[in-house]
Amino acid sequence: MTQITLRQHMHSQSTDAALMLLIEDIATACRMIADRVRHGAFAGVLGAAETENVQGETQKELDVISDEIFQQVVGDNPHLAALVSEEVDEVNWRKSEPKAGDFVVYYDPLDGSSNLDVNLSVGTIFSIVQLDADIAPEPEAVQIKGTQQIAAGYAIYGPSTGLVITVGQGVDGFTHHPGSGEFLLTQPEMAIPPKTQEFAINASRYDMWEPPVRQYIDDCLRGVDGPRDKKFNMRWCASMVADVHRILTRGGVFLYPKDSGNAAQGGKLRLMYEANPMAMLVEQAGGAASTGLGRIVEVAPTGHHQRVSVILGSRDEVAVIEGYHEG
Ligand code: AHG
Ligand code: MN
Ligand code: MN
Repeated sequence: MTQITLRQHMHSQSTDAALMLLIEDIATACRMIADRVRHGAFAGVLGAAETENVQGETQKELDVISDEIFQQVVGDNPHLAALVSEEVDEVNWRKSEPKAGDFVVYYDPLDGSSNLDVNLSVGTIFSIVQLDADIAPEPEAVQIKGTQQIAAGYAIYGPSTGLVITVGQGVDGFTHHPGSGEFLLTQPEMAIPPKTQEFAINASRYDMWEPPVRQYIDDCLRGVDGPRDKKFNMRWCASMVADVHRILTRGGVFLYPKDSGNAAQGGKLRLMYEANPMAMLVEQAGGAASTGLGRIVEVAPTGHHQRVSVILGSRDEVAVIEGYHEG
């Protein structure tokens, strides 16, 4: 089998050179995070932040370590205007006078981190926007709609380390090859089947769901005797990266809706570094990504840590769920 590296693949897509270098920096950060995740139990970095190890050294949880790695590896990129991280309250400006053409990178350094202690898949999510004008380094300047993303992706730290990216020309999956250190193309042109009989939702929140979500899941659970006239399977990884990776591989829908338990925040998942990049990937793979009322990428951000309802995956099923919301 011909082995195509991430760089070769980006060349074949005529990816802009500055964007290519930025994606390579992100891929390097992800390889380094993968290494730390794999050694977590030995390095004493699982569990809560700011505890002390037996030597009296301060330990940091992997969320924080992953963020530091990302800042260190990606932060000095000469075309980077700002980093926006789940782990950092303020926008991390890398230029005092950001110019048109510079990039803003939004990222969740470690997604699904509650899974670390139980040795299940976690990941890193990123979204890249290119500024279309010179800007002043104010927080409002990074509140840019998901439709403006020029690239998005995630790394998944599972049995193997994977990297799934889009630069707006479909979605491609790479696997880290330990011998060469390269990400090699293993899942070209990932495509989500339009129909599915599998949903992913944290059903322990049933009592808090809004009526359309409750009705949709009730109808799925009624199987062949219900209005959907088919039997549904269910999965929930509690790691969005792992759930989306499954959906990109074999279809399905993922829901983390706004409910009475998270309504004050606007939902659970964050728009700019969780929902938008996953929405771009899913749409580029032929799926759909909705708040229930419209495309996630059309949501106008009002804050860089804003939260949002997320319903994404197989496009016909997402349309069905939107139908419940219209009703
Ligand atoms: P993070 O670890 O970055 O805070 O994100 C966790 C998210 C997402 O990955 C997952 O789908 C969801 O939270 C899990 O939520 P529950 O604990 O409610 O299942
Ligand atoms: Mn997350
Ligand atoms: Mn996280």
